[in-house]
Amino acid sequence: MEKLIDEINHLKLNIQAEVIDNAQKIEEFRIKYLGTKGILKNLMIFLKDIPIHQKPQAGQILNDFKFMVEEKYKTLKESFSQEPEPLQQFDYSLPGTPFKLGSKHPLRIVLDDLTLIFNKMGFSIEEGPEIEDDWHNFESMNLPEFHPARDMQDTFYIKKSTDVTQNVLLRTHTSNTQARIMEKHKPPIRVACPGRVYRNEAVSARSHCFFHQIELLYIDKHVSFVDLKQTLYYFVKEYFGDDVNIRFRPSYFPFTEPSAEMDISCIICNAQGCNICKHTGWVEILGSGMVHPKVLQNFHIDPELYTGFAAGMGLERIAQLKYQVNDLRLYSQNDIRFLKQFSSL
Ligand code: DAH
Repeated sequence: MEKLIDEINHLKLNIQAEVIDNAQKIEEFRIKYLGTKGILKNLMIFLKDIPIHQKPQAGQILNDFKFMVEEKYKTLKESFSQEPEPLQQFDYSLPGTPFKLGSKHPLRIVLDDLTLIFNKMGFSIEEGPEIEDDWHNFESMNLPEFHPARDMQDTFYIKKSTDVTQNVLLRTHTSNTQARIMEKHKPPIRVACPGRVYRNEAVSARSHCFFHQIELLYIDKHVSFVDLKQTLYYFVKEYFGDDVNIRFRPSYFPFTEPSAEMDISCIICNAQGCNICKHTGWVEILGSGMVHPKVLQNFHIDPELYTGFAAGMGLERIAQLKYQVNDLRLYSQNDIRFLKQFSSL
């Protein structure tokens, strides 16, 4: 019995010392220990000399050892099979697999096109923050507390206080960027300010809790309503084409006086009347007006010396007309079937 135990201990040391680092050595290991004429088989000889009452114990010791060797073989084999396969013969004449190209998001396409047009007219691109305070989003834009127009803009508040000047909110329009620009720069100012805006509205095909706008602001000496009209007229002709007509309707915005909304003739139905233009042949695309003197004063710009115009439009609206997208939710669903339709633009 002792001889058997000694022999097994000795073999265990040998196994530990074995260097096995390739498939061939693993196979050699198997044959040496587990093969039909292997070391384990030979150990059975020891059983002959063991007294009968010790045989069960000796059998157990041998079995344990066999199990250990088999486990070692198994793990060796597994670890080796995880190594990379040797390189297969490769046919270098095969054509390559093309990369799948993504596509620009339709709103990005609209924005890039508009940027180009407004850049040509001397507007530079500026961005303002989406998280805003009461002053920049409302108060400085001539929308004081209790002003009814505030209710039109269902605001998401991050911090709402009884003292409105302490409020922190998600901007409801890109007009906040007008304030940000005027507090930093002196006229002449000629900027286009794109960005995302937020309103607490139920999500449906026609309204969403976030969307995108681009804001125009032009302040200089002698800027008049003619400049406003001509700038927007040029933009519409450049973007939608020569056949499209425009019209202005008087409107009201607290930050402009006078104010106007601009319609274009419906390009979906060629002004014949459809769902999009509610059978009028016209669709509204933006709000605009001459910057209110009070707004200029808020930023220490003398309204006797300087005048300006501002405009704001929704990018989703523009994209809807250009690409006939009739569900606002599509813009933020990341559905590849929608997005890939814009891959050639
Ligand atoms: N801020 C307005 C809105 O979100 C849009 C707007 C109207 C912007 C008139 C302007 C403007 O700059 O002059 O509904």
